Amino acid sequence: MAVLQRIRNFFVPPAIEPEIIIPAPADTVYEIKILNDKHIDEVWKLNQRCFRVGENYTRGTFNYLISLPTTLSYRIITLDNVMVGFIFVTLMEDGTAHLTTIGVAPEHRQRGLAQQMLLHIEDALRRREISMICLEVRVGNLSAQNLYRKMDYAVMQRLKKYYNNGEDGYLMVKSLI
Ligand SMILES: CC(C)(COP(=O)(O)OP(=O)(O)OC[C@H]1O[C@@H](n2cnc3c(N)ncnc32)[C@H](O)[C@@H]1OP(=O)(O)O)[C@@H](O)C(=O)NCCC(=O)NCCS
Repeated sequence: MAVLQRIRNFFVPPAIEPEIIIPAPADTVYEIKILNDKHIDEVWKLNQRCFRVGENYTRGTFNYLISLPTTLSYRIITLDNVMVGFIFVTLMEDGTAHLTTIGVAPEHRQRGLAQQMLLHIEDALRRREISMICLEVRVGNLSAQNLYRKMDYAVMQRLKKYYNNGEDGYLMVKSLI
């Protein structure tokens, strides 16, 4: 039996215990700062709490994104300097921008932090005279879609089997003019 169990464990990854989320204190004070190569470990760990296995970025991807001169990245921190949110945008050759990833720690969600990061990065793009930002979102990710719709992003196209697991995506776009 022990051998059978060991073989089964080899093929079936152990179930990950769902995280118990205790909301952060309501009076938590937040600040937006630039995210750079000093923050790779912290953003990599936070992205693993924000996205499911297979949907999250590797440390190598964050290393690569931060090394690009065309990446704009910001983090939200608490007063004790703990990262609780991140946003990455890539400047494209055609003068538009692409929202690469955004995440907020579960215990700090639904407090306007993602909205705050989007507004911040959109202002940074306008200062660079970027007139349009686009993104892709899973059709099943309703909270993110609500966020983007609230921020005036519009669905331009349904992307068939866009994600690794075969899930469709939406291409969403916002004019910054
Ligand atoms: C999507 C995500 C970034 C939103 O972060 P957040 O800080 O909680 O969002 P905000 O508090 O700024 O919410 C802004 C709006 O988004 C929508 N929204 C956010 N969370 C929602 C939820 N759980 N259910 C429904 N709508 C939600 C609402 O329209 C909300 O406006 P409202 O507060 O007036 O209702 C966060 O849930 C997250 O990190 N998810 C996992 C990572 C992810 O999916 N990233 C996007 C990939 S495309």
